[in-house]
Amino acid sequence: MVSIAVQLDTDRAAAQHRARPASTSCDDRLADGPWAMDALPTLPPPPAQYGPGSSDHDVAPPTTPVQTTIPERYRTASPAELDARVTAAKEALGERLVVLGHHYQRDEVIAHADVIGDSFQLARAARETAAEHVVFCGVHFMAETADLLSRPDQSVVLPNLAAGCSMADMADLDAVTACWEQLGAVLGRAPDAPGPDGRVGVVPVTYMNSSAALKAFCGEHGGIVCTSSNAAAVLEWAFERGERVLFFPDQHLGRNTAAALGVPLSSMPVWDPRRALGGHDGQTVRGARVLLWRGWCSVHQRFTSAQVDAARAADPGVTVVVHPECPAPVVDAADDSGSTEKILRLVQGAPAGTSFAIGTEINMVRRLADAHPDKTITCLDPVICPCSTMYRIHPGYLAWVLEALVAGEVVNRVEVPASVAGPARVALERMLEVAR
Ligand code: 13P
Ligand code: SF4
Repeated sequence: MVSIAVQLDTDRAAAQHRARPASTSCDDRLADGPWAMDALPTLPPPPAQYGPGSSDHDVAPPTTPVQTTIPERYRTASPAELDARVTAAKEALGERLVVLGHHYQRDEVIAHADVIGDSFQLARAARETAAEHVVFCGVHFMAETADLLSRPDQSVVLPNLAAGCSMADMADLDAVTACWEQLGAVLGRAPDAPGPDGRVGVVPVTYMNSSAALKAFCGEHGGIVCTSSNAAAVLEWAFERGERVLFFPDQHLGRNTAAALGVPLSSMPVWDPRRALGGHDGQTVRGARVLLWRGWCSVHQRFTSAQVDAARAADPGVTVVVHPECPAPVVDAADDSGSTEKILRLVQGAPAGTSFAIGTEINMVRRLADAHPDKTITCLDPVICPCSTMYRIHPGYLAWVLEALVAGEVVNRVEVPASVAGPARVALERMLEVAR
């Protein structure tokens, strides 16, 4: 039986939730399907963009995968028809299939996910599943990781090959190799060679949100992978082994995590890959504890500490929770920060009547609000702006890849070449060992 106090709280929260002002969208095209952009992700005029919702500062590299146009029946089907087709295909495939869904996927896709989680949980799910086919409803680096961690006889499928990640694209192998060579010149020895105390000069740490080639670079140079849920443990592992860390591609996760471990901001210069020595002199580089690659997530970089202030002014009791890809002033002003799964658990564990302002991708925030009508859950940013690449996974693509599997055809398989896969697995296994 529900107590009167709880019922009143619930009613009030529900009323507040309904009364939230209608938000505006950062891009009107987000109401449409992604089809037109997918076939031509680098549409002129320059700079080439990732499609609806992406920031003007995100320039898609020329190597961005293109998605071939799928049959019209998938692009024009109603949501109900696509839902029925996906359900039927999943039934036909049974245990031969597992569908993994990241928290930022749209509701119509999440409805069909067998496992929903953050990037670490989904990597583990890919490693543990016995299914013959892993359909990854997420972005390209996640599908690559799933391929690295699954068996060779399993196939990993990304429903839309144009679902990349603008942050992951901000560091490529050439730029990281050039940085490594400059670090070697400044340190006077190979960065991964041990110094007098047995520690190496630099430990490379790559965020999961990076290409398999960069994970392989870390595997080859004594480095490691991290996700937002284990970055602190991974950085501690790296500090034990090295004089300094090169953290790429997300400067914000690197800065927020190292700052929480006590590293002063003055010891964390930002490495700009377009400038000699990252834009610094040798002394600054030698004195660094963490070199932060100049990369960011445009979804999380939208959040500001002014938004945190506004949320508190509107509701002094509000709990502000943000993702650590947000800039440091936002994380510092928030009550808590963590991976998507941590955010989910904080909301699930809070008593009825709690009010949250959340700084992460809008699909997840909206789903939390819908799942918890007894709590007031709003997005810190009043402008609706989904991740432009997660948005690319439309139910039409999911129906297409699943029906192809039913017909015995594997489309959109993501396979990391063997020469890259070996060392990339080394870096991933180090992470799995640190953060079991
Ligand atoms: P997590 O789900 O691991 O927190 O990562 C968020 C993200 O940006 C994935 O692209
Ligand atoms: Fe990449 Fe940001 Fe989208 Fe995550 S939310 S996939 S980091 S662009």
